[in-house]
Amino acid sequence: MDERILVTYATIMGATTGIARAIGIELRASGAAVRVLPIDHVSRPEDYRSIIIGSPIYEGLWLDTATAFLEQQRELLSQIPVAYFVVHARNNKSADEQQRHVQRCIKAIHDKVPEIEPVDVGVFAGAFNSRSWTLSTLLALKAQGDLPLDGDYRDWNAIQAWARQVLPLLTQKAAVRQH
Ligand SMILES: Cc1cc2nc3c(=O)[nH]c(=O)nc-3n(C[C@H](O)[C@H](O)[C@H](O)COP(=O)(O)O)c2cc1C
Repeated sequence: MDERILVTYATIMGATTGIARAIGIELRASGAAVRVLPIDHVSRPEDYRSIIIGSPIYEGLWLDTATAFLEQQRELLSQIPVAYFVVHARNNKSADEQQRHVQRCIKAIHDKVPEIEPVDVGVFAGAFNSRSWTLSTLLALKAQGDLPLDGDYRDWNAIQAWARQVLPLLTQKAAVRQH
Protein backbone atom coordinates (compact mmCIF):
# COMPACT_ATOMS: atom_id res chain seq x y z
CA MET A 1 0.00 0.00 0.00
CA ASP A 2 1.48 3.35 -0.99
CA GLU A 3 0.01 5.62 1.65
CA ARG A 4 1.98 8.42 3.24
CA ILE A 5 0.46 9.18 6.58
CA LEU A 6 1.71 11.74 9.08
CA VAL A 7 1.06 11.13 12.76
CA THR A 8 1.77 14.37 14.61
CA TYR A 9 1.25 15.26 18.23
CA ALA A 10 1.60 17.84 20.97
CA THR A 11 2.75 16.86 24.45
CA ILE A 12 4.07 18.31 27.67
CA MET A 13 5.16 15.26 29.65
CA GLY A 14 5.57 12.67 26.89
CA ALA A 15 2.65 10.29 27.40
CA THR A 16 1.20 11.37 24.05
CA THR A 17 4.54 10.70 22.33
CA GLY A 18 4.23 7.03 23.25
CA ILE A 19 0.65 6.91 21.95
CA ALA A 20 1.62 8.56 18.64
CA ARG A 21 4.52 6.12 18.21
CA ALA A 22 2.29 3.13 18.95
CA ILE A 23 -0.19 4.35 16.31
CA GLY A 24 2.69 4.75 13.84
CA ILE A 25 3.99 1.23 14.50
CA GLU A 26 0.53 -0.28 14.04
CA LEU A 27 -0.12 1.61 10.79
CA ARG A 28 3.26 0.50 9.43
CA ALA A 29 2.48 -3.08 10.35
CA SER A 30 -0.62 -2.71 8.14
CA GLY A 31 1.58 -1.63 5.22
CA ALA A 32 1.25 2.15 5.35
CA ALA A 33 4.20 4.54 4.92
CA VAL A 34 4.10 6.58 8.11
CA ARG A 35 6.04 9.39 9.77
CA VAL A 36 5.57 10.26 13.41
CA LEU A 37 6.61 13.80 14.29
CA PRO A 38 6.14 16.27 17.14
CA ILE A 39 3.82 18.99 15.88
CA ASP A 40 6.51 21.67 15.99
CA HIS A 41 8.74 19.55 13.71
CA VAL A 42 6.25 19.37 10.86
CA SER A 43 7.57 21.47 8.00
CA ARG A 44 5.72 20.19 4.92
CA PRO A 45 2.28 18.83 5.87
CA GLU A 46 1.26 19.01 2.20
CA ASP A 47 3.63 16.09 1.51
CA TYR A 48 1.20 13.67 3.20
CA ARG A 49 -1.98 12.11 1.88
CA SER A 50 -3.58 11.99 5.30
CA ILE A 51 -2.76 13.27 8.77
CA ILE A 52 -3.50 12.09 12.31
CA ILE A 53 -3.20 14.85 14.93
CA GLY A 54 -3.20 14.21 18.66
CA SER A 55 -2.90 16.17 21.88
CA PRO A 56 -3.51 15.68 25.58
CA ILE A 57 -6.19 17.74 27.29
CA TYR A 58 -4.85 20.36 29.67
CA GLU A 59 -7.40 22.46 31.53
CA GLY A 60 -10.19 21.24 29.34
CA LEU A 61 -8.55 21.93 25.99
CA TRP A 62 -6.07 20.56 23.47
CA LEU A 63 -2.64 22.14 23.79
CA ASP A 64 -2.28 25.45 21.95
CA THR A 65 0.37 24.06 19.58
CA ALA A 66 -2.12 21.46 18.33
CA THR A 67 -4.99 23.91 17.79
CA ALA A 68 -2.58 26.44 16.23
CA PHE A 69 -1.53 23.72 13.74
CA LEU A 70 -5.17 23.14 12.79
CA GLU A 71 -5.75 26.87 12.37
CA GLN A 72 -2.59 27.41 10.32
CA GLN A 73 -3.25 24.39 8.10
CA ARG A 74 -7.05 24.66 7.95
CA GLU A 75 -7.16 24.85 4.17
CA LEU A 76 -5.03 21.74 3.62
CA LEU A 77 -6.65 19.82 6.47
CA SER A 78 -10.13 20.44 5.13
CA GLN A 79 -9.11 18.80 1.84
CA ILE A 80 -7.31 15.63 2.94
CA PRO A 81 -8.43 12.84 5.30
CA VAL A 82 -7.68 13.80 8.89
CA ALA A 83 -8.19 11.98 12.20
CA TYR A 84 -7.75 13.36 15.72
CA PHE A 85 -6.84 11.69 18.95
CA VAL A 86 -7.42 13.08 22.40
CA VAL A 87 -5.49 12.00 25.50
CA HIS A 88 -7.17 12.47 28.85
CA ALA A 89 -6.63 11.81 32.54
CA ARG A 90 -7.91 9.02 34.69
CA ASN A 91 -9.55 10.65 37.69
CA ASN A 92 -12.38 10.24 40.15
CA LYS A 93 -15.04 11.60 37.80
CA SER A 94 -17.80 9.24 36.75
CA ALA A 95 -17.44 7.71 33.29
CA ASP A 96 -20.34 9.93 32.06
CA GLU A 97 -18.80 13.08 33.48
CA GLN A 98 -15.42 12.22 31.96
CA GLN A 99 -17.04 11.52 28.60
CA ARG A 100 -18.82 14.89 28.66
CA HIS A 101 -15.52 16.58 29.55
CA VAL A 102 -13.79 14.96 26.55
CA GLN A 103 -16.74 15.80 24.28
CA ARG A 104 -16.51 19.46 25.34
CA CYS A 105 -12.84 19.46 24.35
CA ILE A 106 -13.67 17.92 20.96
CA LYS A 107 -16.45 20.48 20.44
CA ALA A 108 -14.04 23.33 21.24
CA ILE A 109 -11.71 22.02 18.52
CA HIS A 110 -14.58 21.75 16.06
CA ASP A 111 -15.80 25.27 16.89
CA LYS A 112 -12.34 26.67 16.07
CA VAL A 113 -11.96 24.86 12.75
CA PRO A 114 -15.41 23.62 11.67
CA GLU A 115 -14.23 23.12 8.11
CA ILE A 116 -11.95 20.26 9.21
CA GLU A 117 -14.06 17.13 9.51
CA PRO A 118 -12.06 14.29 11.06
CA VAL A 119 -12.92 10.81 9.82
CA ASP A 120 -12.66 9.65 13.45
CA VAL A 121 -11.54 10.84 16.89
CA GLY A 122 -9.62 8.39 19.07
CA VAL A 123 -9.97 8.95 22.82
CA PHE A 124 -7.29 7.47 25.08
CA ALA A 125 -6.36 7.63 28.73
CA GLY A 126 -2.84 9.00 29.29
CA ALA A 127 -0.45 9.10 32.21
CA PHE A 128 0.10 11.41 35.15
CA ASN A 129 2.89 11.73 37.69
CA SER A 130 2.12 14.20 40.47
CA ARG A 131 5.84 14.40 41.34
CA SER A 132 6.43 16.23 38.04
CA TRP A 133 4.15 19.13 39.02
CA THR A 134 4.38 21.95 41.56
CA LEU A 135 2.25 21.93 44.66
CA SER A 136 0.37 25.01 43.44
CA THR A 137 -0.57 23.25 40.17
CA LEU A 138 -1.72 20.18 42.09
CA LEU A 139 -3.75 22.28 44.51
CA ALA A 140 -5.39 24.19 41.65
CA LEU A 141 -6.31 20.91 39.91
CA LYS A 142 -7.67 19.54 43.18
CA ALA A 143 -9.74 22.68 43.82
CA GLN A 144 -11.33 22.30 40.35
CA GLY A 145 -12.03 18.60 41.03
CA ASP A 146 -9.67 17.76 38.14
CA LEU A 147 -6.72 16.16 39.93
CA PRO A 148 -5.72 13.16 37.79
CA LEU A 149 -4.90 9.82 39.41
CA ASP A 150 -1.21 8.98 39.42
CA GLY A 151 -0.25 6.23 37.02
CA ASP A 152 0.15 5.19 33.40
CA TYR A 153 -3.29 4.31 32.05
CA ARG A 154 -2.38 4.01 28.38
CA ASP A 155 -4.21 1.00 26.97
CA TRP A 156 -1.93 -0.20 24.19
CA ASN A 157 -4.48 -2.71 22.88
CA ALA A 158 -7.10 0.03 22.52
CA ILE A 159 -4.57 2.34 20.83
CA GLN A 160 -3.50 -0.37 18.36
CA ALA A 161 -7.13 -1.30 17.66
CA TRP A 162 -7.96 2.32 16.90
CA ALA A 163 -4.97 2.60 14.53
CA ARG A 164 -6.16 -0.48 12.62
CA GLN A 165 -9.70 0.86 12.50
CA VAL A 166 -8.79 4.37 11.35
CA LEU A 167 -6.48 3.27 8.51
CA PRO A 168 -9.22 2.26 6.03
CA LEU A 169 -11.17 5.43 6.90
CA LEU A 170 -8.15 7.54 5.97
CA THR A 171 -7.33 5.62 2.82
CA GLN A 172 -10.92 5.21 1.56
CA LYS A 173 -11.48 8.94 1.77
CA ALA A 174 -8.16 9.58 0.01
CA ALA A 175 -9.14 7.17 -2.77
CA VAL A 176 -12.55 8.82 -3.25
CA ARG A 177 -10.87 12.19 -3.65
CA GLN A 178 -8.61 10.89 -6.44
CA HIS A 179 -11.54 10.10 -8.73
C1 LIG B 1 -1.96 20.86 34.77
C2 LIG B 1 -2.71 19.69 34.19
C3 LIG B 1 -3.99 19.86 33.68
C4 LIG B 1 -4.70 18.79 33.15
N1 LIG B 1 -5.96 18.98 32.70
C5 LIG B 1 -6.66 17.92 32.24
C6 LIG B 1 -8.01 18.08 31.82
O1 LIG B 1 -8.59 19.16 31.84
N2 LIG B 1 -8.67 16.99 31.39
C7 LIG B 1 -8.09 15.74 31.34
O2 LIG B 1 -8.76 14.78 30.98
N3 LIG B 1 -6.80 15.57 31.71
C8 LIG B 1 -6.08 16.63 32.16
N4 LIG B 1 -4.79 16.44 32.54
C9 LIG B 1 -4.15 15.12 32.38
C10 LIG B 1 -3.34 15.01 31.09
O3 LIG B 1 -4.16 15.15 29.96
C11 LIG B 1 -2.66 13.63 31.06
O4 LIG B 1 -1.78 13.54 32.17
C12 LIG B 1 -1.93 13.39 29.75
O5 LIG B 1 -1.54 12.03 29.67
C13 LIG B 1 -0.70 14.25 29.62
O6 LIG B 1 -0.12 14.03 28.36
P1 LIG B 1 1.41 14.34 28.06
O7 LIG B 1 2.24 13.46 28.99
O8 LIG B 1 1.60 13.95 26.63
O9 LIG B 1 1.66 15.79 28.29
C14 LIG B 1 -4.09 17.50 33.10
C15 LIG B 1 -2.79 17.33 33.58
C16 LIG B 1 -2.12 18.41 34.13
C17 LIG B 1 -0.73 18.18 34.68
